[in-house]
Amino acid sequence: MNRLGPEDYQSNRHIRKIMRLAQASKRDVFFDLGCGMGKLCVIAVKEFGVKKAVGIEMHRGRASKAARFVRDQGLSDRIEIWNEDYMESDLGEATVLFCGHNETEEDVPHFEDALGNGSRFVSLFLPFVGVVPDAVDYPFYLMKLPFKKTEDGSRWASAVLTKKAEVEELYRELDTDREYRYDKRLMGRLMKDRFGGV
Ligand SMILES: C[S@@+](CC[C@H](N)C(=O)[O-])C[C@H]1O[C@@H](n2cnc3c(N)ncnc32)[C@H](O)[C@@H]1O
Repeated sequence: MNRLGPEDYQSNRHIRKIMRLAQASKRDVFFDLGCGMGKLCVIAVKEFGVKKAVGIEMHRGRASKAARFVRDQGLSDRIEIWNEDYMESDLGEATVLFCGHNETEEDVPHFEDALGNGSRFVSLFLPFVGVVPDAVDYPFYLMKLPFKKTEDGSRWASAVLTKKAEVEELYRELDTDREYRYDKRLMGRLMKDRFGGV
């Protein structure tokens, strides 16, 4: 799947929504998984006072641009930009994370393994399939570690749609979210694997 997308995706208002949903504060270390030009890290530090932010960006040119942006803001002592694949990164220090990418099959076990209990993961558009979100401010979902997993599709669908619903309804409703590019076949497969059918 192409996970490149635009380097500067979330608006500042959306970035603030992400930080508020996670209740980011000076006690936190914020990680942006796929940071593009690094704007989330800058807002996390400047407006929410997180003690440190790390932006991980695998595209070399974007990572250099992000590092330059951080330097220009005079924030190099608080923000690190790592030019690597976040699936290979050491995320042990993270207490708040944002990732705007579609889920892949390995994400849930990977992040359960890589993240400490109590850390807060914010996703865009959907929570991980079968993980019940702790809070929702659409299009963002907050999932605290350890993840609250369910095999009950209607419990998950109801939490995602914030109304009583079955997985089939959620699956149909995905088509109304025209803004977000996602792989509906992969979503269908994940839902089938985790709930036994769509
Ligand atoms: C759509 S941009 C989002 C930038 C910023 N987080 C925002 O929301 O405004 C996603 C970025 O993630 C990067 N990316 C995709 N997969 C990645 C991976 N596995 N590790 C690190 N960066 C990745 C892409 O190169 C791209 O710059």
